[in-house]
Amino acid sequence: MKEYLLKQAKEVLYNNFQKKGFTIPSENLYPFQWKWDSGFIAIGYAHFDIEKAKKEIETILSAQWQNGFIPHIVFHNRSDSYFPGPEVHQSKLSKHASKKYASSGITQPPVFGFVLEKLYQICPDKKNILTFIESQINKVYKNHVYFYFNRDIKDEGLVYIYHNWEAGTDNSPLWDDIWETMDPPDYHFKRKDTQHVDPSQRPTKREYDNYIYLIEIAKKYQYDDKKIAANSPFLVQDPLFNSILIRSNQALIELYKIIGGNDKKVTFLEEKQAKSIKSLNTKLFDENLGAYIHYDLRNKRSLALISSSSFTPLFCGAPDVKIAKKLISTFVEKFGGENNYLCASFDPTNIRFNPKKYWRGPVWINLNWILYNGFKKYGYHELAKRIKEDSIELIVKEGFYEYFDPRKGISDLQKIGYGGNNFSWTAALLIDLLNDSY
Ligand code: GLC
Repeated sequence: MKEYLLKQAKEVLYNNFQKKGFTIPSENLYPFQWKWDSGFIAIGYAHFDIEKAKKEIETILSAQWQNGFIPHIVFHNRSDSYFPGPEVHQSKLSKHASKKYASSGITQPPVFGFVLEKLYQICPDKKNILTFIESQINKVYKNHVYFYFNRDIKDEGLVYIYHNWEAGTDNSPLWDDIWETMDPPDYHFKRKDTQHVDPSQRPTKREYDNYIYLIEIAKKYQYDDKKIAANSPFLVQDPLFNSILIRSNQALIELYKIIGGNDKKVTFLEEKQAKSIKSLNTKLFDENLGAYIHYDLRNKRSLALISSSSFTPLFCGAPDVKIAKKLISTFVEKFGGENNYLCASFDPTNIRFNPKKYWRGPVWINLNWILYNGFKKYGYHELAKRIKEDSIELIVKEGFYEYFDPRKGISDLQKIGYGGNNFSWTAALLIDLLNDSY
């Protein structure tokens, strides 16, 4: 069984690999290179084809902007199966943008620090992989410096995102409160996603108007971070994004220590790290809810809603034992019902929960992988075991889908996942989970 699954997962990745040296998330639906996808994909490759893992990272980092920014989509190739493409994003409006590649001007969670560390752990030939890490690590460091200098406007160690696509959790009900403060034009555009996937599983037209409006504002200011911070109606501190930054800071510190001779960089990262952890725990942890929540900087309010992102600080080690205990009890109470697969992407007890629709409820394997590693770190063995087994079971029963219905009865009956099929990070992270002997 394990061997058969591994074989299938490898096939998904190889079929999605493109001649230009990167792997698309899913045919037609996502035909370019995506930032955090490429990190998860590299972890999968590392178990059986280290050269492909290196290539994936090298290709995405080759599109880094001069100021350290890394875009969420890089248009290495042409394709007309996706909206919004390069002609909408117009990265060239920014004076920092890559001269070589068209890209978006929004980013995604900074996964590459911990991805490089995973590559180091997985690859048996340490000398070889360290040489590769040395060739890339300063780009990742520069990306962290970019975040702290441009996205941490209050110098609290917490960085902001200015678009829901930057969170990676694209249409989470978290953003509904922000959409209520906005009234974008009724744009005329031709969406492509609903040609590939059942529209009931995708965001609405009005949600897309909001998404496009935020991009138009950023373009109006030539993707200048200061102007975006002053003018964008969407300015949020996200616990998932910041936990990934913290986890990657830690990985960079460890890797620089192995490499040696990078004291200034290590000191910078350690200083930021302490501040980030403190602010994450004081500002984003809500005692009453027993969960980490988002903070809406633009409207100066907390978004008191629980999603799978609420528990991701376990992944970066920020919570102390007391907070971790509280967090786990909230998790079990809200998400852990025995009729549910772990882990719904949004609070199943909330009225906004929708088990079929994209990030409004379904299970996503990358979030499961993050939570699995968080539970392990804190010694919550039963939960770690359960989330790992649920992830594998869903893929075995339903296929390498983008997301899955968390309701066991319905999911088992339908026998099919949602969104794109042959989805790369589902395959890549399954490979990592199956190779994990924990
Ligand atoms: C969807 C997801 C996003 C991902 C992208 C490509 O937009 O919400 O997180 O990076 O697909 O897979």
